[in-house]
Amino acid sequence: MSFIDGEKGVLEYVGIDIDLLARHSTFEETVFLLWNLRLPRRDELAGLTRELRAEANLPGPMWDLLRTFPRDATPMHALRTLVSALALFDREADDDSPAAAHRKAVRLQAKVPTIIANFDRHRRGEKVLEPRGDQDVAASFLTMLNGKEPTPAMSKIMDVCLILHAEHGFNASTFAAMVTISTLSDLYSAITTAIGTLKGPLHGGANEEVMHMLLEIGSLDRVDAYIQEKLARKDRIMGFGHRVYKAVDPRATYLRTLCQQVAEDTGNQKLFQMSKRIEEIMRDAVAAKGIYPNVDFYSATTYYSLGLKLDLFTPIFAMARVAGWVGHCIEYLKDNKLMRPRCEYVGPHGAAYVPMAQR
Ligand code: CMC
Repeated sequence: MSFIDGEKGVLEYVGIDIDLLARHSTFEETVFLLWNLRLPRRDELAGLTRELRAEANLPGPMWDLLRTFPRDATPMHALRTLVSALALFDREADDDSPAAAHRKAVRLQAKVPTIIANFDRHRRGEKVLEPRGDQDVAASFLTMLNGKEPTPAMSKIMDVCLILHAEHGFNASTFAAMVTISTLSDLYSAITTAIGTLKGPLHGGANEEVMHMLLEIGSLDRVDAYIQEKLARKDRIMGFGHRVYKAVDPRATYLRTLCQQVAEDTGNQKLFQMSKRIEEIMRDAVAAKGIYPNVDFYSATTYYSLGLKLDLFTPIFAMARVAGWVGHCIEYLKDNKLMRPRCEYVGPHGAAYVPMAQR
């Protein structure tokens, strides 16, 4: 599904450079590409778009369940729980035959944005808003979230962010999903596993941490002292470094341009200028170790400029990454083998069982 050259900073989905997809594709088309390993014809794209729109609503009891959630619950806990609950209302939950798996992939991809947007409405005390059924994923999500239609420019930025986050090989959450599916469990269980794994600050949670850091710094003149102090303490700077990329993450390159464009459009340059300065300091300090900006660094500022709350950044990452998760799971099921690593035991052997009274 995707190829990564970490040394050169290249990412391709099915051979197509991520930059080309960000410029020319749409999220729906990218999903088709990832699931079918080729670009769709016009009628095929229309078909998948229709399916995604038709499946975006939630089963009735899911709306009731969502309304029972505590308002101070975090969106990632809510998302993980509600995705797990979707299985209760799907008669095909345990059928992972190719046709049923495709239908469930569509359901998951279509319903996750509805869950995220409406949990946010619920916690704000707003009435839930069902998807209209006539919008693309990005526009539909923003409409449900904000209760009004986004501008075409906002939808486009959201759409590009979804493309950039859709797939990334065997990252931690995809790998976790695949371990689950390899037991022949089911797709809902696999995606629930993936969401729990994405949540951590060393994986998907880093974008939120980047924004906390920028807000804590507060202004351009405080950047140098803040970052230098952190580096001196050997603290990690969120949004930098990657297990695979030892060059600039190509998604960060595109997001930097997007972030600059948003800054110019909104007239609010502060966050972009601060981010650029952090990048310069980090280039001098740690680029020699192969530490460069990753996807989370500029996506944080981009999302913030779109008016999205900080704790929605990772759920939005999840909403895009469902494409990669289900794609890999379905591919793996075609020639499944249980994933079961061995661990290296380093303790004693033949030890005595000491009775409780003598310990
Ligand atoms: N800031 C400062 N120094 C760093 C950073 C950073 N963010 N990341 C790594 N280093 C240093 C690290 O201290 C070590 O230095 P030394 O060799 O002097 O001890 C060196 O670089 C190598 O670090 P490592 O821990 O071996 O690298 P890793 O490949 O295990 O870590 C990482 C990868 C992503 C966990 C790490 O870079 C990190 O914690 N980054 C911050 C969190 C973050 O932005 N995560 C998002 C990852 S990309 C999106 C995703 O996958 O979801």
